[in-house]
Amino acid sequence: MKLAQLLFSQGFGTRRECEGLVLGGHVALGGQVCDDLFHEVETHGLAFSVRGVAWPFHACALIVMNKPAGHECSQKPRHHASVYSLLPAPLRRRDVQTIGRLDEDTTGLLLLTDDGALIHKLTSPRHHVPKVYEAGCKHPVSQAQLDALQAGVQLADETGFVRAAAVEATGERSDGFYGLRITLTEGKYHQVKRMVAAAGNRVEALHRSHFGALALPADLLPGQWRWLDGPHLILPAAPAHAPR
Ligand code: URA
Repeated sequence: MKLAQLLFSQGFGTRRECEGLVLGGHVALGGQVCDDLFHEVETHGLAFSVRGVAWPFHACALIVMNKPAGHECSQKPRHHASVYSLLPAPLRRRDVQTIGRLDEDTTGLLLLTDDGALIHKLTSPRHHVPKVYEAGCKHPVSQAQLDALQAGVQLADETGFVRAAAVEATGERSDGFYGLRITLTEGKYHQVKRMVAAAGNRVEALHRSHFGALALPADLLPGQWRWLDGPHLILPAAPAHAPR
């Protein structure tokens, strides 16, 4: 890929802006400034820098964020800051989108990508990708509530029963709420809060800890994000059947 084209593909501006960055000597490859617009770059494993800031090449952007409370998963937030405001300009220009949404007050594991097919794969209920939430409930979580969540509850505007894939009461928490770990394979609007309300309790705090096989990295602080090497970290390949 030609150098100016590479910058364009990574979100560094319009074609003209990218050409300006190269011609202005602002782009370095392997630590050496390269001001040749047409320099052929091998993208595999490439790390380049723009204005001294290192940037890894990614054909598709896939990132994990620790979503802080008080942020909306919307490009046009209405009441709070947008999660997109936590990303650097090249990622915003690449038009990364959240893979599903978390409520403004929900914290934890949020994925973003510019790969539309991956968004579909990870959000389609047909693929049953499990998402694990740690809910802080107002009242102690009873066995009857756990049974109802697992058997299925009725939600307004939904036909049939909506079930949790797994539930577990995790006891009283340090914030005074009662812990409920709940695993869902769908992503309906306010699903955890509505299901817990339908079971007779109330969610006061909500955090997503896992998406598919991926756990929120323990060292990723609220508001921080990092690159992921690929969707295999979220959807590991199914094990091959052993030969008979
Ligand atoms: N369920 C909810 O109720 N809210 C979220 O943010 C995610 C799942």
